[in-house]
Amino acid sequence: MTDLEHDATYFLELQTKTGWGRTLAKFAEWCAIPAGSVALDVGSGPGLLAKLLAESGVRAYGVDVDAGMIAQRLHAGMIHADTLRLPFGDGTADYALASNVLYLMTEPQPALNEMARAAKRVALLNPSELMTMQAATELADAAGLEGLARDTMLNYAGRAERLARWDEDDLRRMLAAAGMALERTALTVGSGLVRLAMGVRE
Ligand SMILES: C[S@@+](CC[C@H](N)C(=O)[O-])C[C@H]1O[C@@H](n2cnc3c(N)ncnc32)[C@H](O)[C@@H]1O
Repeated sequence: MTDLEHDATYFLELQTKTGWGRTLAKFAEWCAIPAGSVALDVGSGPGLLAKLLAESGVRAYGVDVDAGMIAQRLHAGMIHADTLRLPFGDGTADYALASNVLYLMTEPQPALNEMARAAKRVALLNPSELMTMQAATELADAAGLEGLARDTMLNYAGRAERLARWDEDDLRRMLAAAGMALERTALTVGSGLVRLAMGVRE
């Protein structure tokens, strides 16, 4: 597990009681996954994104290495597994998604390679090159965020500053190393503090 500071109860509250749930819903919408497709949400936490996808007719599975996340399940289709060893054959999933997972990893490329092995398309959500503590503070002030929502936003920015913030070129390079082309990318959250990226097999 890469998130050493927070447990499943924290992520359950984050996904169900803060604006993060709306960001995951926007990500699901942006991915535009056709009904009937098979999608894996890798590093799902308690599984809100998989639940939202399932509600739109996607055959969605949440995958998490932390048994506590699986126990807090918001979605029936949860799988206890490591993203480095996904229990799916080559190309058997249509999509593999990862929201705020790869940027936390010291070495994200092997995890991305494994997602690209199992799925025909990969959809990623990570802090963008515009994420800074100052930008996050301005957003939190403008949105009147308090309590968990504010703490989470500032914690997110602090981690991103320490660990990774990816721009379009970074993601194109990482996807290419996994045998994928960057199909599209977009900025979201405030002035664009979060970057979405869709990769497709070349
Ligand atoms: C910051 S949380 C993000 C949760 C969710 N994707 C979201 O955006 O709300 C990172 C999640 O990735 C999971 N994770 C970390 N390393 C993993 C790995 N190697 N394989 C599968 N899950 C992993 C953690 O257990 C945690 O649930």
